[in-house]
Amino acid sequence: MRLGVNIDHIATLREARGQLEPEPSFAALLVENNGADSIVVHLREDRRHINDSDLIILKEVVRLRLNLEMSVSSEIVGIACKIRPEQATLVPEKRKELTTEGGLDVKNNFKRVRNAVVKLANTGIDVSLFIDPDKKQIIAARRAGVSMVELHTGRYANAENKKEENRYFEELKTAARFAKSLGLKVFAGHGLNYNNVSKIAGIEEIEELNIGHSIIARAVFVGLGRAIKEMRELID
Ligand code: PXP
Repeated sequence: MRLGVNIDHIATLREARGQLEPEPSFAALLVENNGADSIVVHLREDRRHINDSDLIILKEVVRLRLNLEMSVSSEIVGIACKIRPEQATLVPEKRKELTTEGGLDVKNNFKRVRNAVVKLANTGIDVSLFIDPDKKQIIAARRAGVSMVELHTGRYANAENKKEENRYFEELKTAARFAKSLGLKVFAGHGLNYNNVSKIAGIEEIEELNIGHSIIARAVFVGLGRAIKEMRELID
C-alpha cells in the first residue's frame, strides 16, 4: 500500500511567523528519503499554508509523484494546468474551515467538477476526487470521468466510540469494494493517525493512504524521517 505524505503543515509553521523557515521543499526531500511514495500539498484559495512559489519549487525538486489537492475554482485549475503536478485531487473548500470538511459533492456539482476534470486531464494530469464513502458519490465520480477516487476517512477517524468506529469502518470497506468493482483505483485519507491506520491499511481494495497532520505532529518530537518510517511500518 502506498503512502502519500501531506506537508502542508510545514508551511503552516512557516506562516505562523511569516518568515522563510521551515522550507516545504526540505521536508519533501526527507519524505522522499524515508519510504513514502508521494508528496501531497493543498494549494488553498486563501494560501494559508502552501503558496504558488512553493508549488513551483516542489515541482522542480520532487522526484516522487506530486499530488496537488485543490478546489475546482477556475483560478486554481489554471495554476494546476500550468504547473502540471502528476496528480490533482479535487476537494471541497470553504474559507473558514480548519481542514477539508467532508467529501466533494460530485453528484450535486456535476458540471463544475466534470469541467475541472476534463481541463486537468487534457493537460496530462491524473485526476482523483476526494469523496465520502457513499455509493451515489462513487457513481457520480465514475461518470465524471476519473479513474481514481480518495475516500474520506474522517467519520471513521472521529468516531466517538467503538460501535461508531466499526460502523464507519464497514462503510469504508463497502465503498472501497464498490469503487473497485467500477474499475476505479481507490485511495483513502483524512484524520488517519498512528492508532487508527492499521485497520484501514487492512482494506484490500485501497491502494494508497494520504496522511498529513499526525505525521507532522509526531515529527515535532521524533523528526520527520522517523515519523514517516513509523507510519510506513504500521501500514505494512
Ligand atoms: N486527503 C485529503 C484529500 C485531504 O484534504 C487531507 C487534508 O489536507 C488529507 C488527506 C490528510 O488529512 P490529515 O491531515 O488529517 O492526515
